[in-house]
Amino acid sequence: MRFYPEKSLLPGACTGCGTCSRVCPSRAVVTGPDKRVTGFLKTCIGCGHCGAFCPVNAFGLENTVQPGASPEKLMDLFRSRRSCRLFMPGPLTEGKLKQLLEPVGFAPTGTNSQGVTVVAVQGVETIQDLVVKPVRRFLRPFAWLAKRSALRDYIGDFMRGDDPITRRAPCLLLFFVPRKNATPREDGVIAAAMVSLNAEAMGLGCLWNGVVKVLYPFLTGLRKLKPGGTALQAVLCVGERTLAPLREVPERDFETVLTSH
Ligand SMILES: Cc1cc2nc3c(=O)[nH]c(=O)nc-3n(C[C@H](O)[C@H](O)[C@H](O)COP(=O)(O)O)c2cc1C
Repeated sequence: MRFYPEKSLLPGACTGCGTCSRVCPSRAVVTGPDKRVTGFLKTCIGCGHCGAFCPVNAFGLENTVQPGASPEKLMDLFRSRRSCRLFMPGPLTEGKLKQLLEPVGFAPTGTNSQGVTVVAVQGVETIQDLVVKPVRRFLRPFAWLAKRSALRDYIGDFMRGDDPITRRAPCLLLFFVPRKNATPREDGVIAAAMVSLNAEAMGLGCLWNGVVKVLYPFLTGLRKLKPGGTALQAVLCVGERTLAPLREVPERDFETVLTSH
């Protein structure tokens, strides 16, 4: 639910300390001669920083901040996270799906635009019908060409029923973001990243699916699920794992460039 500071501000509670003005990203806080808050400008983006940092809780927010995960625990999650390509066939229960998607309600978006919609396609066969079978149908006339290619075994297995695209995952998550958002691409990818890490923490298997993202414009059935005014930004396959990884991620190449004067 969106936060509107003008609706939350408790009359008489503000002490005029000025904290909210200092943390406000859009200089939206209006104060009177005694420095107490009197209102908010239209530049307010509803981020809730005024309420989160107010020392006297003048905005009447209920939940106090709990200690977050320790860096060690968070690193354990990063080290143990692995893509899943072997899923159990059963769809996620409603409760698990709700828990899995909960982080989206806390995900940051550029200028706090919000509005991410996650479409959850449940059921192996539904996903086969919407994603895998149309690709197979499309490739069928060209199958003879594939026989000459280096990928012939791969394509041959696919045509005979293998699913290297969604890996027969029981749930497909499509992250749609309003086109009018300030940073739609990042908004969708951040929400999906938070969900993918939550999946790991919940012991579920998760696979980022770049192939479905690329194929999406050609998948008529899937395109019908798009909410108006949005664009697809990320795709995840999720489900219970049939096998859990036994060893950590081998460290990947990266560089840190430090500059100081
Ligand atoms: C944006 C993105 C798209 C991906 N798309 C696919 C995909 O379509 N199919 C697949 O099997 N793996 C896909 N992957 C998984 C990567 O291959 C995988 O993350 C990488 O090999 C590292 O393995 P790990 O995730 O187990 O650490 C994707 C990963 C990312 C981040």
